[in-house]
Amino acid sequence: EKGGFRSFMDKEINDQPQAVADTLLGRLDLSGRLVLDEMRIEESVLRAVDKIVVVACGTAAYAGHVAKYAIEHWCRIPVEVELAHEFRYRDPVVDERTLVVAVSQSGETMDTLMAVRHAREQGATTLAIVNTHGSTIPREADAVLYTHAGPEVAVASTKAFLSQITAAYLLGLYLAQLRGNKFSDEVASTLAELREMPDKIQEVLDRSDRVREIARWMADTPSVLFLGRHVGFPVALEGALKLKELAYIHAEGFAAGELKHGPIALIEPGQPVFVIVPSPRGRHSLHSKVVSNIQEIRARGARTLVVAEDGDDAVVPYADEVFFVPQTSTLLAPLLTVVPLQVFASELAHAKGLDVDQPRNLAKSVTVE
Ligand code: BG6
Repeated sequence: EKGGFRSFMDKEINDQPQAVADTLLGRLDLSGRLVLDEMRIEESVLRAVDKIVVVACGTAAYAGHVAKYAIEHWCRIPVEVELAHEFRYRDPVVDERTLVVAVSQSGETMDTLMAVRHAREQGATTLAIVNTHGSTIPREADAVLYTHAGPEVAVASTKAFLSQITAAYLLGLYLAQLRGNKFSDEVASTLAELREMPDKIQEVLDRSDRVREIARWMADTPSVLFLGRHVGFPVALEGALKLKELAYIHAEGFAAGELKHGPIALIEPGQPVFVIVPSPRGRHSLHSKVVSNIQEIRARGARTLVVAEDGDDAVVPYADEVFFVPQTSTLLAPLLTVVPLQVFASELAHAKGLDVDQPRNLAKSVTVE
């Protein structure tokens, strides 16, 4: 069943191009327009939405963080992301014009289910982005947009994460298309670019030997930090989570801009730090800011492990290692930049002789509150 791989985790990381391709399948018509027939929420309701709240736990919540950047940009609708277990206990402001999006691989996470129930009680429209057909969350939500990642066996989520991000992009682009906003050219070009993502993810996988080698060398490391900015921030959080879950290593993700406000105090000689660098071709000037962050931590002795876009030579002088990923637009980059971090965590856990599919103390779906 592991398809020749030594673990389900390895197999599922490797399945990611297919998982993303399958999540896109049948959702783009021949002219490149998005059709989400399955999403049975009246268009008038979707047009009236004035706020989106994503509720989820763990890795699924980080997919929600990525969604926030994309949907706010494409749709100009405010998006909040909230851990499902925090959401309903703080009297959230939710009403008939709120779309609550529950993201869950299993569709059974009790915290997320309770958030959906709470949202419905407040009159919100609820949409599930879920991988498991026939599970509880989609049954209770008003509508569902299935991710088609296929069964995910390893406890820590990988291919479901990429599929969740993909489905969230589809949701954002669909809302943008429906609401006829001024970014329609960008919507069309992003849809075209999404179709290229499976090949680009494959390319990242094909280049993963070096990150595996480094992971094996680092099997004894007691702590790893992750820095990212913009959509690279949730990628940093997910990279840290994977390392905690799989390798039981203390790991923390930070927004790179926050570095000088605290985390830089943690940097001492030899501290490994992954940095996810935004594209130098991006709209913002974030690239140079993150490159400065790499310089700052390097000057304090950090061991810098940099994930950057092909052709980004500016990072090379300050990086102990660079893992290059193919070029893509800023908002879609998480589908690529997270992959070396997954491979790193998985390989390091293997090197430590751990059970990467069934990490201690964790369950694939947590059906208690
Ligand atoms: C945790 C799993 O218990 O639940 C994580 O260990 C997962 O891997 C999280 O991200 C959320 O699960 P789900 O099924 O709601 O996506």
